[in-house]
Amino acid sequence: PLPLLMDCDTGVDDALALLYLAGTPGVDLRGVITVAGNTSAEQAAINTLQVLELAGRTDIPVAAGAATPLTGTDPEYATHVHGDNGIGDIQLPPPTADLDRRDAVQLIIDAAHAAPGALHILATAPLTNLAHALEREPRLPELVRHVTVMGGAVHHPGNIGARAEANIGNDPEAAQRVLAAGWELTIVPLDVTMRERLTPAHQDRLRTHGTPASRFAADALDVYLDFHERIVFPFRASACHDPLAAAMAAGDLTPVQAPVLHVTVDTTQGPARGELVADTRGMYRGYPRTPEANARVLLETDGTFPERLVERIVSLDVPT
Ligand code: BDR
Ligand code: CA
Repeated sequence: PLPLLMDCDTGVDDALALLYLAGTPGVDLRGVITVAGNTSAEQAAINTLQVLELAGRTDIPVAAGAATPLTGTDPEYATHVHGDNGIGDIQLPPPTADLDRRDAVQLIIDAAHAAPGALHILATAPLTNLAHALEREPRLPELVRHVTVMGGAVHHPGNIGARAEANIGNDPEAAQRVLAAGWELTIVPLDVTMRERLTPAHQDRLRTHGTPASRFAADALDVYLDFHERIVFPFRASACHDPLAAAMAAGDLTPVQAPVLHVTVDTTQGPARGELVADTRGMYRGYPRTPEANARVLLETDGTFPERLVERIVSLDVPT
């Protein structure tokens, strides 16, 4: 199985991604760390423990990481999208497992050393922890097999600014360091995560199935679907950001279009701050890759993933 560490800001869609990974047999989830984003890093860590417990996975180390972006400015949490507690205001029982004693950055570094050349990192949140880890362990890019990041918007508009998507835009300096670190990188931007959608039919299937994990997923989707119906789409459906990136990391997606491009982040203070700048010129000229290409960017998928997500959550059979 694929050794994987997830860095997230749990988050309704992060929670669904966690359940998806727990329900995917080819994945060996070695640890989960959190960062300020949808909610505080501490709250995200509690949410993570609770969600993993629904999946029967109290064995996975969890640690809370960076509470602010690299600039030290106060984070703005996305309570209007994910509810006040980050998981759609669903109240789960207090977790029985404790947080890991190590700090989140050490957890990344230890996971990388424990599986040299094999560890996959999935980041579905601002990249602050990874930036800190690169500073503490400069050999990290040689130790890690692949990094998959949910973030950015290539042709799609941003979701926290004209061009900025939340995970890149909430810590552009960290994102730029992670993109420039010289490791194998895949980016899963809004261009695809806004197109693979969860619908009330998926929610019904989860609710009817009736396990603790599937019921939680259905309930947490209420707030998330409300937000999308109110603000994003002219119909009731939600984006599928973090689960789609999890599927990409797990090798469970067949990309329709995924060019290898040169990507950087706008770290100026101007209107494009936080933009993922993907050099797509090579695509238009028909070249297979741009000269300093540093990331595979997923631009089109076949639209079949949400069904699989639901099936994986439904497959979690946890004795109560
Ligand atoms: C990303 O931002 C967060 O709100 C979501 O969890 C997802 O990771 C989407 O822009
Ligand atoms: Ca997230």
